[in-house]
Amino acid sequence: MHSSLEETLLGSIRTIPDYPKPGVQFRDITTLLGNARAFRRAVDELVHPYAGTKVEQVAGIEARGFILGGAVAHQLSAGFVPIRKKGKLPHHTVRIAYSLEYGIDEMEMHEDAVKPGQTVILVDDLLATGGTAEAAIKLLRQMGAEVVAACFVIDLPDLGGRAKLEGMDVTVRTLVSYE
Ligand code: PRP
Ligand code: ADE
Repeated sequence: MHSSLEETLLGSIRTIPDYPKPGVQFRDITTLLGNARAFRRAVDELVHPYAGTKVEQVAGIEARGFILGGAVAHQLSAGFVPIRKKGKLPHHTVRIAYSLEYGIDEMEMHEDAVKPGQTVILVDDLLATGGTAEAAIKLLRQMGAEVVAACFVIDLPDLGGRAKLEGMDVTVRTLVSYE
């Protein structure tokens, strides 16, 4: 019997209560990544709408977005743009501060990581408040990228990330959600 995409993904994601702070239900994708079938299905589903389209770069957000974004970039024969927490990239960078469900941080990308006009999709594991993805899209646009879409395995719709990104004229794609 074949299980649905939703069953496969939800069945392979682990929830850790009160991590990293009391009150947060942490959706842990390491169990999905360790499940070969679930990992492949998640990547295939993220890739599917863009197969045969012109995606030149996939941008992934440290750390979990690197794992999924790298696999998506490979399947689309696109380049990969790492967006990292501050202080990790060796060359000239552009930097932006952002807030997320349980704190604030700063992220950076290399100023020459995308060429003006290049089509980019952003990939991350999870959309919560949308603060992280919003900041990444701002950095990419600052460098002249055309951000075609932002794609996530998990949506936490109560936290409003989708509306935030759609307000920036970005197509948002998510595979499963936790109300
Ligand atoms: C998590 C997740 C997203 C972000 C989503 O990353 O991987 O990047 O939070 O939250 P938001 O929509 O409220 O901005 P985190 O900052 O915990 O970093 P990590 O991947 O290094 O664990
Ligand atoms: N990033 C932001 N909120 C999260 C959550 N609830 N689970 C996993 N990663 C997150």
